[in-house]
Amino acid sequence: MDAKIALITGANSGLGKAAALKLAKLGWNVVMLCRDAQRGEQARQEIITASGNENIRLITADLGSKVSIKNFVGEFERRYSQLNLLINCAGIRVLNYQKTGDGIELMFGSEYLGHFILTNWLVPRLKAGAPSKVITISGEGHKAGVEGGVGASINFDDITYEKKWDVLRASKQVVLAKILFTYELARRLEGSGVSAVTVSPRFSRTNLSNHYPWFVRWIAAFRMWQARAVSPELGADDVLYPALAPQAQYQTGKYYVEGQEGKSSPESYDPEIAKRLWEISETFAGEKFL
Ligand SMILES: NC(=O)c1ccc[n+]([C@@H]2O[C@H](COP(=O)([O-])OP(=O)(O)OC[C@H]3O[C@@H](n4cnc5c(N)ncnc54)[C@H](OP(=O)(O)O)[C@@H]3O)[C@@H](O)[C@H]2O)c1
Repeated sequence: MDAKIALITGANSGLGKAAALKLAKLGWNVVMLCRDAQRGEQARQEIITASGNENIRLITADLGSKVSIKNFVGEFERRYSQLNLLINCAGIRVLNYQKTGDGIELMFGSEYLGHFILTNWLVPRLKAGAPSKVITISGEGHKAGVEGGVGASINFDDITYEKKWDVLRASKQVVLAKILFTYELARRLEGSGVSAVTVSPRFSRTNLSNHYPWFVRWIAAFRMWQARAVSPELGADDVLYPALAPQAQYQTGKYYVEGQEGKSSPESYDPEIAKRLWEISETFAGEKFL
């Protein structure tokens, strides 16, 4: 039997890299989507050396650029006729208002919208690889009372926070948006053989705070130590749970927390909000999907 094909975004660092290594050790063909060729190639070499698996390919793309994602998908389609597993893992956290190359607020534009567009453009290859899975990383941080108090909501009046920047709400919105996207994708792909789930991994020691000023990085490092953050390898076990779990322990349209089925916030289950977000995302993408 031919090896299965997995595509992992943000595969040069943290959870994405650890997940790529684990799949490589299990004999998968792994495609790494990384935005920086040098960092990506270094991680690819490390994964090949540690796994003994040569079938690890790097294709660069910036999830903050529609043109870059289009080129990536074109390259992927030329090389592969199917996709069995897509892991939407890339992410970024910043404190100040920044924009992607396409002019959209950075966290929403790359971590949410980039994955929305990438996934939809890959649906034909996912269907060809059915039964196939889309795993999108979210997190418990979207809930009220976790990480800064407020619960996440979709700020439909100013979804890209252009009018009034609020870093806490903007970062929480991205996580909720990825959950709403997953549930809507699962509904729209019902019966196609492509399933979609979202996962909340354990708090893990990664490079997510690298874009903060030095003193905030220091606080983040202290918090990781205090909360006993786990290694990226353990965090990646939670990410990969739906990919590797037996069929009976896995269902499309669900939220998995640390390897078990969990519940996301009440707002995340509202199909009207999910539909509205999907349609706004299509407007940003400039095309209709599914
Ligand atoms: N760590 C945790 O405890 C935790 C918990 C819950 C959820 N999460 C989520 O897990 C995901 C992975 O984060 P991590 O903790 O593994 O952090 P990380 O080590 O910083 O990895 C993030 C990856 O995303 C890539 N990336 C960022 N912007 C990109 C773009 N525009 N295009 C393509 N790739 C891009 C980064 O590339 P560069 O190296 O080039 O910057 C890096 O490879 C994030 O969505 C995060 O919110 C993490």
